[in-house]
Amino acid sequence: MATIAEIRPFVSKTFEPEEEIGEVTICHKLLPPAVSQLNEVNVMLTMGGDDRSLLDETGHNKYHCRPVYDANDICRGSCTCNSPSRLGLEAATAAFEAMKKDPCGHTASGLFSDVRSQIAELLHLPKSTGVFLTPSGTDAEYLPLCFMKALHGEGKTVNNIVACLEEVGSGTFEAAGGFSFSSTQPIPQSGGSSSKSATSATSLPLPGLALNVRTVGIPARNKDGSVVDLEAELDRLKMNAAMNANDETLILHTVYGSKTGIIQDCPKKVLDHIKQCQGLHVLDACQGRIEVEAILKYLEQGTVVLFTCSKFYRSPPFAGAVLVPPALMVQLAQSNFVPPSSLKGFFTQSQVPESLPRWRAALASTSENHGLALRWVAGLAEMKATLKVDEFERQEATACWRKAIIEAVSKHPRLRHFSEAEGCHGFQVSQSIVSVTLHKSDKNGTITNNAMTKSELSKVFQAMTEDMSTICDHPAAAKRCFIGQPVTINASQGVLRIALGSDSLRRFIEDPASVLKDDCLLIEKMSMMAEEFHSL
Ligand SMILES: Cc1ncc(COP(=O)(O)O)c(C=O)c1O
Repeated sequence: MATIAEIRPFVSKTFEPEEEIGEVTICHKLLPPAVSQLNEVNVMLTMGGDDRSLLDETGHNKYHCRPVYDANDICRGSCTCNSPSRLGLEAATAAFEAMKKDPCGHTASGLFSDVRSQIAELLHLPKSTGVFLTPSGTDAEYLPLCFMKALHGEGKTVNNIVACLEEVGSGTFEAAGGFSFSSTQPIPQSGGSSSKSATSATSLPLPGLALNVRTVGIPARNKDGSVVDLEAELDRLKMNAAMNANDETLILHTVYGSKTGIIQDCPKKVLDHIKQCQGLHVLDACQGRIEVEAILKYLEQGTVVLFTCSKFYRSPPFAGAVLVPPALMVQLAQSNFVPPSSLKGFFTQSQVPESLPRWRAALASTSENHGLALRWVAGLAEMKATLKVDEFERQEATACWRKAIIEAVSKHPRLRHFSEAEGCHGFQVSQSIVSVTLHKSDKNGTITNNAMTKSELSKVFQAMTEDMSTICDHPAAAKRCFIGQPVTINASQGVLRIALGSDSLRRFIEDPASVLKDDCLLIEKMSMMAEEFHSL
């Protein structure tokens, strides 16, 4: 039986007296006050993830987010990390209470099974599509590697090509190579705390997974900030030569909605090469900024789709899913391959479809990832409410919001909408993320073309989440504003991002003025923080 203290060593005090919830015991020892004041469900929502979800002594994670809903916060950080939405928290609380009242009837494994069915229903997935649940979009990367091992054994070297490298997850490249990417594993393994086992240090090969994998990254952007032409890059890599070798195969990742919103197309001739060498095309749609129809089109062509409900759909960090085309599921069921035990720190049997009993037996474990199950419950509540709205109406509203944000940004001389991704080489971008550069002054106080770098923007990112009324006498300065963390564009500049989440989109449809009022406050604060940068 696992305790919260074991699962998350930091959370050493929770609730008095010890209380059993299904297979998890919540126990009370000494916690920093900021964390001990949280409700059980809020604590539970932070559990079963990697180090990015850990709370510090002030009750915040590394993105300065708390696992609480606060109607006064302005949340436009859905491209990075969310505090729960009202709807999501209500749904997670109801599921948690049901689990406490009836731990036999309402188990985490039952919740996972429901979550998988609901995802399939909401996304209209073809029958027998595999739905795997993953602790995040980053560890979702381990599954395509497993699929290749199931298809080819250890006989072939897997060339795992990750496009748009700087604009996917910061740990994606390591995970795509079968390496650990965090010092904390989501599921504690017996005989030790979750965080300090040998395989949970970063950048270590996961036994049974990393062997015979060669990871290749293709940058997102050229030095001038323009988007890299993927087809030209793939030609340069001479992929087909590698494909013709009998002992090599390929996984190619393309992205549908990168950190700044880039949408890549996978060229037809590349898809043909992949088929020829029995490789795999993986679509990284982890931002969740993708229409159902597009997901279905990709699955239909044999693409594996990575998805999360913890970006656009606002669940707390993090909750992922891997959607697997039915034909590949048949091949997996026929293969003798089972996941290596090094993956037990990430997946329990309940996270794997019932149609793979061998996988489930290999991943059998005494502990379940309750936090992940509840995060998915929160995300599904948002997905249901949002996908109910007509697609055209959602797209129109998003375009309208974007136009208003770009206009509001243009009123502040220190802020500029970063539009490099748009319009060049016919690239598309997700409409629900607006990227902004922040500009510095010269020694005479004149605003220059010099944009802040990623490390400078990190200070602004943090200041945005805090009450800064001590340095600026303006109502906007006190507002806690959550935005996307800085992204590097090139050596000399980075961007901050304003991202619409599903709840704000629905509110925008009902009452655009109230959403834009918040956005204008947020943009005002961003401009003030850029101006007061020396005081941050
Ligand atoms: C495009 C994309 N892919 C993958 C990831 C990784 O997902 P997660 O943060 O759930 O690990 C991110 C995270 O920002 C992302 O933006």
